[in-house]
Amino acid sequence: MAKEKENEEQEETEAESAQLKGTSAEEIATEFKEHSVAEFFKKNMQMLGLTGKIKTLTTIVHEYVTNSLDACEEAKILPDIEVQVKELGNEYYEITAKDNGPGLTKETVGKALGQLLAGTKFHRMMQMRGQQGIGAAGCTMLSQITTGKATQVITGTGKHAPISLEITIDPKKNEAKISNLTELKKEFKGTVIRAKFKDVKYVNSEQAPLEYLRRTAIANPHAQITLIEPSGNKIVFKRTLKEIPAKPLEIKPHPKGITVDELSTLAKYTKARQVSSFLKSELDRLGDKAVEEIAKNVSFDLRKDPRQLTWEESEEIIDQFKKISFIAPRTDGLRSIGEERIKKSLSSIVVPEFLSVVTRKPGVYKGGFPFQVEVGIAFGGNAGKTGIVNEEGRQERKVEIMRFANRTPLLFDTGACAITKAVQSIDWKRYGIKDLESAPLTVFVNLISVHIPYTSAGKQAISDEDEIMEELRLALMDTGRKIYTFIGRQKRQAEKEAKRKMFYKYASEVAYAVSELAQKPKKQVEDKLHALVLKHLKLEEQKEKEADAKGEASEEEIEKAYEKKMEKEKKETAKGKDGGKKEPIEEGESE
Ligand SMILES: Nc1ncnc2c1ncn2[C@@H]1O[C@H](COP(=O)(O)OP(=O)(O)OP(=O)(O)O)[C@@H](O)[C@H]1O
Ligand SMILES: [Mg+2]
Repeated sequence: MAKEKENEEQEETEAESAQLKGTSAEEIATEFKEHSVAEFFKKNMQMLGLTGKIKTLTTIVHEYVTNSLDACEEAKILPDIEVQVKELGNEYYEITAKDNGPGLTKETVGKALGQLLAGTKFHRMMQMRGQQGIGAAGCTMLSQITTGKATQVITGTGKHAPISLEITIDPKKNEAKISNLTELKKEFKGTVIRAKFKDVKYVNSEQAPLEYLRRTAIANPHAQITLIEPSGNKIVFKRTLKEIPAKPLEIKPHPKGITVDELSTLAKYTKARQVSSFLKSELDRLGDKAVEEIAKNVSFDLRKDPRQLTWEESEEIIDQFKKISFIAPRTDGLRSIGEERIKKSLSSIVVPEFLSVVTRKPGVYKGGFPFQVEVGIAFGGNAGKTGIVNEEGRQERKVEIMRFANRTPLLFDTGACAITKAVQSIDWKRYGIKDLESAPLTVFVNLISVHIPYTSAGKQAISDEDEIMEELRLALMDTGRKIYTFIGRQKRQAEKEAKRKMFYKYASEVAYAVSELAQKPKKQVEDKLHALVLKHLKLEEQKEKEADAKGEASEEEIEKAYEKKMEKEKKETAKGKDGGKKEPIEEGESE
């Protein structure tokens, strides 16, 4: 016993002295190991949004559903998607996602669902819901590390017999391991993915699958989405539009947004033999005229091999891009939901008293990525979320901000998202909304782009790029002004009605007195008085219309003033002055 204690003490002193001595570079070198991207994400599942019991379950549904919608859109198929969540035990669930999409081939199914950072979307500048090649494989990994089980897949392309298989990921190699691969006798086109997960929870909250799918249905009226809850309850979000959205187009970067690094990278891999043809073939809206202009002003010959382009030369080209006025980026690559469809969706779901939808013209943000903003504001009716029950026993309503990126609902990281920041940066009082938090408003915002600048791999919040923030604010202010006009009109209507009632009441009394004095029949005097009241009210109405028309004009002025202010702020920031963004002074907007 005494001997054992002696040994323990000796070990402790050795460890202490090693700690005091520190580790040498040579010793550290023995610890140097490489690891695969799969090992990295296995340790950092939270980076994929797979953290928190409720959030994880919703994120899994989101990954499967976005993939199904993307696949159907590319294949021009009206999506029919079914998600089933089964409870297998305490915080233990099985999720099945089934679609009628194009399916996956025997060759690609492993890479698609069993290899991280592999997919068809990352290398294409195309408006899609997924973009990283990590969503579905991340779910396969999560299933395997929480339950030790494989993900089951059935997929058919319509050309060959459908296949059934099981997938796991080899984290060391970031490779799919496929087992039990069999060909099925029945006909099936589409994909079914079934996986089990532990440490997750199905609830009915604002951040749960049901709300996620409800919002998906709002932004994708062409999709039929079914959810079977653990209780067996089946909810169907019916397709309200039979038209398949036009397939998004792959586009090239716009010269106004591209960085020196991106231009240098493109130059290294281009097939073009000269810088001039490289610029024309790899960039959007760049033609002979621009090439001539650049050739005149750079210090090198544009016939040079693009692979030999130096960093400094790329910088010269970018400087020239800033001076040339290019046509705005191609917009035919972007696919907005469209004002009419948003109106239809929102009116059927929130049944508001007033609805205003604005689609801004496309813009470009840093990196040459085209984007576009769509905003809808629904006021009154069932707009907003249900709030507390007030003293009169009436259920109050609260503002509801529905954020979307490429038609995909964003439910988490609300505070970090450009959309929330833009909504909060607006001085809503100017638009007749005294307290935004308690307003019966549904604010719907969809940002579309060939590349959404997410703040993290979890794809929950959009980064507040200057150009995106500006467009979001302009769209919100535009809808805000329409709400303001509506609220003002509602108020004036109520006041007019009260006035009319009062005038009519006194007209009868005055008619009696006047008829006595003028020796005229009371009825005759009363009719004349009523006609006078009506004339007076009509005159007031005319004045209102004129004021409204004047209001419209000043809205344009406000927008121009805002754009001017943003321009000025940008210049000031460039000069290093305080360019802090504040709400612009908007003339004629306060009551
Ligand atoms: N249901 C499906 N039908 C057809 N193809 C699919 C389906 N699900 C996934 N895929 C294919 O598998 C690839 C990988 O999917 P994954 O979700 O991992 O990445 P992604 O969708 O490309 O990007 P992100 O990580 O942003 O979701 C996709 O790019 C797509 O080509
Ligand atoms: Mg995906």
